[in-house]
Amino acid sequence: MTKPKLSSRSDIAMFQALDMLRQANELEAKGIDIARMGAGQPCFGAPQEALDYAVEIIKNDPRQGYTEAVGMPSLRERISKYYNDYYNTSISPANIVITNGSSAAFILDFIAAFDNRAKVALITPTYPAYRNILKALNIEVVEIESNEKDNYQPTLDLLQNCGKEFDGIIINSPSNPAGTMIKDKELEKICHWCDEKNITLISDEAYHGITYEHKAPTARKYSNNAIILNTFSKYFAMTGWRLGWTVLPDNMIDRVKKLSESLFVSAPTISQHLAYKIFDHIDVLDGYVEFYRKNREILMSELPKAGITNFTNGAGAFYIYADIHHLSNDSEQFCTKMLNEARVSTTPGIDFDLTRGHRGIRICYAGSKQNIIESCNRLKEWLS
Ligand SMILES: Cc1ncc(COP(=O)(O)O)c(C=O)c1O
Repeated sequence: MTKPKLSSRSDIAMFQALDMLRQANELEAKGIDIARMGAGQPCFGAPQEALDYAVEIIKNDPRQGYTEAVGMPSLRERISKYYNDYYNTSISPANIVITNGSSAAFILDFIAAFDNRAKVALITPTYPAYRNILKALNIEVVEIESNEKDNYQPTLDLLQNCGKEFDGIIINSPSNPAGTMIKDKELEKICHWCDEKNITLISDEAYHGITYEHKAPTARKYSNNAIILNTFSKYFAMTGWRLGWTVLPDNMIDRVKKLSESLFVSAPTISQHLAYKIFDHIDVLDGYVEFYRKNREILMSELPKAGITNFTNGAGAFYIYADIHHLSNDSEQFCTKMLNEARVSTTPGIDFDLTRGHRGIRICYAGSKQNIIESCNRLKEWLS
């Protein structure tokens, strides 16, 4: 019997973080308890008062129809106000489009900005979905290795001297998987350089708000051409509500609006109501950040006792990227073994870096304090 044909562009790599999540769930379904440091999601939900507000909305309007494709005007205005309050940067609501998680914003923005075979640079180690989505859209991925000495973030010098050409570049600060931040001066230089060279700069600001030393500036501070992606999944702790947003340069607004109408119709309505209200509870969200900070301290003092001594000391997000080459040269096998033997879930570095990731693992510390302590205890015993 013949089989339906498959496109070559859909032949993308597996998302290891989600596969590890599946494996951990399967073990737990068998009654094996897993200490979780794998998937990158907060252990908190949205603040209770905002949730109560969302419940009222459903009671009063059980229909919950579509919103405008670009999102509810009130939410876009609220986000615009947030840019003023948090970043001291003025962004018109007209430049803001609400999306189904930032993941949908990637699709909209990549299609609007790049043609088939355009070249887009990623700084490795990098969030793997960029590579996979770009490939699925027939956009060429140009990988540029970042350096440990630069905290795995790009510098203008690296971009100018990497010997590679590209039409666009994606930066991510604080980053997944390293949790590190780009230096403010470098961000400014890169923004200006991209403007000069007509390179499309996409700044994934998904972890803004979760910073431990100083705020991360938005790339829009330095260039009106920068495309910004952000999400309610991380700082705002609304992961499963599937809501994000993008800030667009003026000439992209109409294109993304039309794409968004046809690709997604609208983002989830109830999630937009919740997101609108969540901005009244920034104090609760900042409390979550303090909680991650404490987890980070525990992890950084306990990991060396387990024999994992070389890891990033990032000032944001909720990740540590650790070198495990003295323990294994196959991060995928190492993480699977750790899951099955130590009952601790982490994510193999090969997800983030195709050339060097065999010697790295990502550890997420967005879980409960008990979970972090238990994970470290199990690792100490397993690696002793
Ligand atoms: C750097 C980065 N960008 C974007 C996303 C996608 O998030 P969402 O689609 O939930 O907004 C993630 C998720 O882990 C991420 O780590």
